[in-house]
Amino acid sequence: MEYSKKVVEHYTTPRNVGKIENASGIGEVGNAVCGDIMKMFIKVENNIIVDVKFKTFGCGAAIATSSISTEMIKGKTLEEALKLKNTDVVNSLGGLPPVKLHCSVLAEEAIHEAIADYYRKTRKINRRRNKTKM
Ligand code: FES
Repeated sequence: MEYSKKVVEHYTTPRNVGKIENASGIGEVGNAVCGDIMKMFIKVENNIIVDVKFKTFGCGAAIATSSISTEMIKGKTLEEALKLKNTDVVNSLGGLPPVKLHCSVLAEEAIHEAIADYYRKTRKINRRRNKTKM
């Protein structure tokens, strides 16, 4: 199977590459077999992902899945973003060769990790606030 036009387009001109300073949440995941690493930064305001950026050290499919998944969650609520599955990412890209499906799993995991990190941080802040109120 060859790469779809959309995969090639996202690989050659990836969207939302970079880092967010003071990100609300950061998710970093990797695949032990291929060694690729994906890092996702999210900025959350009022439960909405208002900005998202990524840094991926990996194959073309990992870059394409990172890129399209950032577009798919930008402007979404955290709950909506958590529903994004790797299969949605693959379908949006017009498919991936079977040997590259695990690259889309990295994108799903990186988003979940970034949101989990956001929840961890906000819980800590809320706990601190509650303590000071007492
Ligand atoms: S080959 Fe491992 S993420 Fe693409």
